[in-house]
Amino acid sequence: MPELLLNVENVTAGYAQDIDVLRDVSLQVHAGKVSGLIGLNGAGKSTVVKTICGFLSPKAGQVSFMGKPISGVAPHQLIDLGICCIPQESSLFPYLTVEENLLLPLQGRRKKFGGVIAQRFEEVLVAFPAVREKRRAQAGDLSGGQQKQVEFAKAWLQQPRMCLIDEPSIGLSPIMAEEVFSWIEKFTQSGMGILLIDHNVRRVVRMSDHVQVLSLGRITAAGKKEAFQGDLHEQVKQWLGLNF
Ligand SMILES: Nc1ncnc2c1ncn2[C@@H]1O[C@H](COP(=O)(O)OP(=O)(O)OP(=O)(O)O)[C@@H](O)[C@H]1O
Ligand SMILES: [Mg+2]
Repeated sequence: MPELLLNVENVTAGYAQDIDVLRDVSLQVHAGKVSGLIGLNGAGKSTVVKTICGFLSPKAGQVSFMGKPISGVAPHQLIDLGICCIPQESSLFPYLTVEENLLLPLQGRRKKFGGVIAQRFEEVLVAFPAVREKRRAQAGDLSGGQQKQVEFAKAWLQQPRMCLIDEPSIGLSPIMAEEVFSWIEKFTQSGMGILLIDHNVRRVVRMSDHVQVLSLGRITAAGKKEAFQGDLHEQVKQWLGLNF
């Protein structure tokens, strides 16, 4: 059984005191596995990520990483636990160069990262043309697809145990989207656990070991990938209680 990394247990959370966006949400991420989270726009998928990363505090339930509660850990401390997030919105500083953005999270952490940084830096220069060609450009001047490459390069340099990846293919050309998904596979093969959110439901199911469906802030279906390989269109209608 692969190691349990993330354990979200019965979490209720929201932005306003009296409105719950997530209700009783439970999910897990294991080492070397992809845990997929799918749902309609506004279902609360990104809110799950924000709650795991400490931008929101659960009103009930618990979030643990490698057996320890992480509620109350500030977002910038997650890197020290081995958690990385590639958010739906850009996490890059637009007025810093690509190279500065890549190295910023590693500053003050040379001891931890020193050994393999040079090798990983070479790898990202080979894998991501935008990193190679635009390393001295301001990140804000890059296209959306190029910025996504920088986000993935940044995550790879941090050598996390787990990466939360929210809508990685949004706005990308099909070729670039495939590239991004192949990097998620590389992440997983290295032993990283992944929480994957993407509007490409078929792709998420194909890549995931375990899938959760979020509907109006609740997990309405969950199971191993095999349970999701029938008529996906029909299943999605059922999960969402839709007749169309
Ligand atoms: N900062 C915020 N303040 C208040 N409400 C918010 C905030 N961010 C999101 N919400 C609300 O929380 C609900 C869930 O939003 P969330 O962004 O988690 O959905 P999502 O499933 O990620 O959607 P999408 O597929 O469009 O990215 C929505 O009703 C949204 O309006
Ligand atoms: Mg979202």
